[in-house]
Order: sequence, then structure tokens, then C-alpha cells
Amino acid sequence: MLSRPVLDLARRLAGTLPAGLDTAVLLTTGAEANVAALRMAKLVTGRHEVVSFARSWHGMTQGAANATYVAGRGGYGPAAPGNFALPVPDRFRPAILDPDGNLDWRRQLDLGFDLIDAQSVGSLAACLVEPILTSGGVVELPPGYLAALRDKCHERGMLLIVDEAQTGLCRTGTGMRSSTTASSRTSWPCPRRSGPGCPSRPC
Ligand SMILES: Cc1ncc(COP(=O)(O)O)c(C=O)c1O
Repeated sequence: MLSRPVLDLARRLAGTLPAGLDTAVLLTTGAEANVAALRMAKLVTGRHEVVSFARSWHGMTQGAANATYVAGRGGYGPAAPGNFALPVPDRFRPAILDPDGNLDWRRQLDLGFDLIDAQSVGSLAACLVEPILTSGGVVELPPGYLAALRDKCHERGMLLIVDEAQTGLCRTGTGMRSSTTASSRTSWPCPRRSGPGCPSRPC
């Protein structure tokens, strides 16, 4: 049974998102929101494989932990099959350089997806990313990266899920960090403590 304030909040949240994103599901934790988004992506695509950054943090539940690489994988036995890591486009510790010595993130993204395509069994469902990696070292994605990532996902029929647990609801100065790259094939698990006094976590 949902109360009127919860319905009103869901409506107001949905009203802050671009066209095509018109539904809010209120949950309790970030991990739950990410798992819900992944489950939706799997249901919609009929696939199961999930890509996330090699220094990602998406939460402690099994589904979120399977997409988390920055900590806590050792000692827990096998993760769910079909989880792949994408290199982090870290401009301060660039892995692949352009002729000027700066991070060549486009080439890094291409190589990352070459490896993912090589490992995939043809069942890529979603890519789950933070627009600013936090636990992974406060890494801001280079301008244009998220749009290029969205295109990589859409080329493969995958959904892009942007985990805004740390960055959403004006925490970086704008409504959602990733809103300029949104599309109807994007979903947003967004900030913790967005519902003071009652457990809520929009997805
Ligand atoms: C980016 C990100 N996603 C998800 C989570 C998980 O949130 P929760 O601890 O509420 O499950 C966190 C927690 O720190 C986070 O930083």
C-alpha cells in the first residue's frame, strides 16, 4: 500500500527526468536500486550479462556486488557468470595515451569493448556505471565519455544504467550528473537519503 506522500514524491522525481523516463520506484538502499535496475534490464532485453567499471562500487547485495570491482570480491567464491569489467577512464592515471601524453579514452573504450565482445556469449543486457566514480578514487568521466558509452551500449542492444547514488539530485550542481546523455534506454538509481525520515531510494 503506497501512501499519498510517496506517490507525490515519485511523481515529482519523475518530473525532473528527461522525456521517456517517467517512472520512479522508491526503494531503501542504493544496492537495492541497482539490483532493481539490473533486473529490469535483464527482463527487458531477455539477456543476463552486465558490464561495469573496473573500480566500480554499486553496493553490498549479491547483484550489486557482482558488478562491483573496487573491493570485496576476494574470498566469496564465484560471482554470477556474465559480469565484465571495463577500464576506468582516469585522466590522472592514464592507461592509454594519445600523442600529447593525455588519456586516449576513446581508444581505451574501444579496446574495453573489444575484450567484452570477445568474452560475451551474446547476452549483453546492461552497462552499470557511476558518472563520477567515488570509492574508485573520485574519477570524473571525461567530457563526451558517457555519450560514447551510451552509443557502445545501444550498438549492442544493451541498456545504460547510471548509478547516481552519490551524484544525483543536485549534488554536483545540476539535477542529475548524467542528464545530458539520458535516453529512454537509460535508468537512474539515484541518491541515498533522498527521503529524509522515511526509507526511499528512487530507481
Ligand atoms: C555509487 C554507489 N552506488 C551504490 C551504493 C550503495 O548504496 P547503499 O549503501 O545505500 O546500498 C553506494 C554506496 O556507497 C555508492 O557509492
